[in-house]
Amino acid sequence: MYLEILSYIEDKSSRINDLKNIFYTTARVPLHTDELRQSLFQKYAAPYIEHWPDDVFFACDLNSKKTLGYLIGCRNSIAAESIFSPLLGSYVLFSDLFKKFPAHLHMNTHPDHQGVGVGTFLIEEYALELKKFGIKGVHVVTSPEERNVQFYLRHKFKHLYERKYNDRSLLFMGRRL
Ligand SMILES: CC(C)(COP(=O)(O)OP(=O)(O)OC[C@H]1O[C@@H](n2cnc3c(N)ncnc32)[C@H](O)[C@@H]1OP(=O)(O)O)[C@@H](O)C(=O)NCCC(=O)NCCS
Repeated sequence: MYLEILSYIEDKSSRINDLKNIFYTTARVPLHTDELRQSLFQKYAAPYIEHWPDDVFFACDLNSKKTLGYLIGCRNSIAAESIFSPLLGSYVLFSDLFKKFPAHLHMNTHPDHQGVGVGTFLIEEYALELKKFGIKGVHVVTSPEERNVQFYLRHKFKHLYERKYNDRSLLFMGRRL
């Protein structure tokens, strides 16, 4: 498979629809109502599209142009606190680590295309982009039992911090760039 990165500007509205579709189909909680779907999207995806469109990446099939996966990121997690804190109580749980790992990201690959290199392509392209701008670290926050932990470890997110948030454990995984 040949992949290319298309930025948000190209084919904007249809790519955002693809992003929404992938977001909903990969959600880890059942999304029974439209209200729930929208509230999750507003918390976890919409702020990135609104504030950091340059950090919205789509991995697309080079021939068909089909969207296979996406990555949304933020280069300065400290500056973004005022945006995320009101939306996500857990956002500040790891804020002492933001200086060392300033950027963060969320990503998902369409279930029909997982495990064939789409995520690897996206994450390495974003790491290159961050390095180009002199950003020294990036992080993700996941749960210790998630399968994606292996994926991030393989991609050098090896600085791990596990903390409790309410009744859950959250895992911060940082990568130096
Ligand atoms: C995690 C994820 C982004 C990786 O993208 P990908 O395109 O599947 O990744 P690649 O093909 O480059 O790498 C394959 C590795 O990804 C991980 N992976 C594959 N499918 C996965 C899945 N359904 N859930 C979690 N991780 C998965 C595995 O570590 C896999 O390695 P393995 O085949 O040796 O087990 C993608 O699988 C996904 O969207 N998963 C579901 C939602 C999720 O966990 N998103 C991350 C939120 S923090």
